[in-house]
Amino acid sequence: MEGSAQHLWWQSGVIYQIYPRSFKDTSGNGIGDLKGVIEKLDYLTKTLGVDAIWLSPFYPSPMADFGYDVSNYTDVHPLFGNLEVFDNLVAQAHQRNLKIIIDLVPNHTSHQHPWFQESRANRQNPKRDWYVWRDAKDDGRLPNNWLSVFGGPAWEWDEATGQYYLHSFLKEQPDLNWRNLEVKDAMFAVARFWMERGVDGFRIDVAHYIMKDPKLRDNPPNQSLGTEMHKSLGPYDSQIHLYDKGHSDVHEVYRQFRKLLDAYGEGQPRTSIGEIHIFDWPVWASYYGKNLDELHMPFNFSLLGVTWQAQAVRERVDTLESALPMGGWPNYVLGNHDEPRLASKLGEKAARVAAMLLLTLRGTPTLYYGDELGMRDVPIPSEKQQDPWGIRVPGLGRDPQRTPMQWDDGSNAGFSSPEVRELWLPLAENYREVNVASQLEQSDSILNLYRSLLAYRRANRALQVGAYHPLDDVPEDCFVYLRETTDGNQVLVVLNFSSKAQQLHLNGLGKGNLVISTYLDRTGEVDLSSLPLRGDEGIMVELRS
Ligand code: GLC
Repeated sequence: MEGSAQHLWWQSGVIYQIYPRSFKDTSGNGIGDLKGVIEKLDYLTKTLGVDAIWLSPFYPSPMADFGYDVSNYTDVHPLFGNLEVFDNLVAQAHQRNLKIIIDLVPNHTSHQHPWFQESRANRQNPKRDWYVWRDAKDDGRLPNNWLSVFGGPAWEWDEATGQYYLHSFLKEQPDLNWRNLEVKDAMFAVARFWMERGVDGFRIDVAHYIMKDPKLRDNPPNQSLGTEMHKSLGPYDSQIHLYDKGHSDVHEVYRQFRKLLDAYGEGQPRTSIGEIHIFDWPVWASYYGKNLDELHMPFNFSLLGVTWQAQAVRERVDTLESALPMGGWPNYVLGNHDEPRLASKLGEKAARVAAMLLLTLRGTPTLYYGDELGMRDVPIPSEKQQDPWGIRVPGLGRDPQRTPMQWDDGSNAGFSSPEVRELWLPLAENYREVNVASQLEQSDSILNLYRSLLAYRRANRALQVGAYHPLDDVPEDCFVYLRETTDGNQVLVVLNFSSKAQQLHLNGLGKGNLVISTYLDRTGEVDLSSLPLRGDEGIMVELRS
């Protein structure tokens, strides 16, 4: 369905995720920083043409989980800069009309956060109840059978106070107790702090984890071989995660959070995007709120694990479209800092078709830094491994997709200055060919494809906010859809998911004007009643009304 004329920036725009450690290092320590993001604002807005950036955590942190273990929510880690640099980033981004979304991590803090330090000091401490503490069972066993996503039990024994605390992730990431209203107040104060500094929205880390079963019941075993997520999580998949996250009380929290954002929305609409790995679509959709009064968008991860086949992808898109609540705004994600790189999963040609898909479906796309270059997963030798998940559960490490951005073909790829001896993660071996500078020179590069797609989308209401209509009666390997506005602006998207050439007969659509091919080598009039497509080709055609 086509929306009204008043679409907001987070609906019509494109979001680009920056993993700050890996984007651009200006301090010479081999780790990216916020000044580096400032340096690259023209790349983001002028060269690429995105509308918003989402910054993964840059807060003070002992870096047990690379910043997703926050020890101070209202400051900047010295590695990344300080509040003044952050303010400068916001100001310079806003001058370019680029919005800033930051990561809010409400489920857990670092074990070094003063809140947890107090909580663990003694059982009488006023902050004891800010975290989830439980006695051992009579025979000394763990309070229940819950598991940590990152391997092992979700409980850690605290010798000093003789109780266990809950950690859904690392033991260095104790879970907050959101049933204590002071926790909510403290986290809402954090959101206020950043909104007052000008941020336009929040990406909420594992948003559905914050509310657990009040009785902390055991999870049932998972009898099937299937996984709940789009990918295997190793031993974590041995249970059905019925009680350790997503309790329905979570909705009240997000209703209140939405009110807080709305209160700051006058003149500057703010957004909230929840990281919610739920694949049961009605449950997923419930996070929009019954009256669209909770999160603006739960991230839609439905395409992350899909078999890369036209009908399978169409089926996911159609399922999602029909699961959306009335007025709920869709969004799509094909990569992030937790997922294997798109170009590694699909190969470059299909990654180009994926780019066209992502930037032409109805809803807000989120791009992951480096995917616009076709960056690949970088094999990391075991002695260079950083991600604690990969160290604990071999095979699940996320370092390969977090390597430094490839800016040019100089030493250190323009990520750090050439004299820097070691980067926090190794560069891709192919960086001398695959980098921003060389791809800008090469007219048919994947970067230039992203640039064309973004520029076209930016100028085209049908792609930004138009309705989505899939077409039937097309070859099995093709996914074909129309994006259109009620005033007759129509763009046809034709994607060939196979490496074989296809012949389409889209009778009744007449002739159209091909505006972009994923090969970037043809434009001009095409006859849709007899339309040849090359293997792994996607095209966009403006229809004539
Ligand atoms: C989210 C983040 C991931 C992090 C985890 C724990 O899934 O995306 O990177 O490790 O939460 O905070």
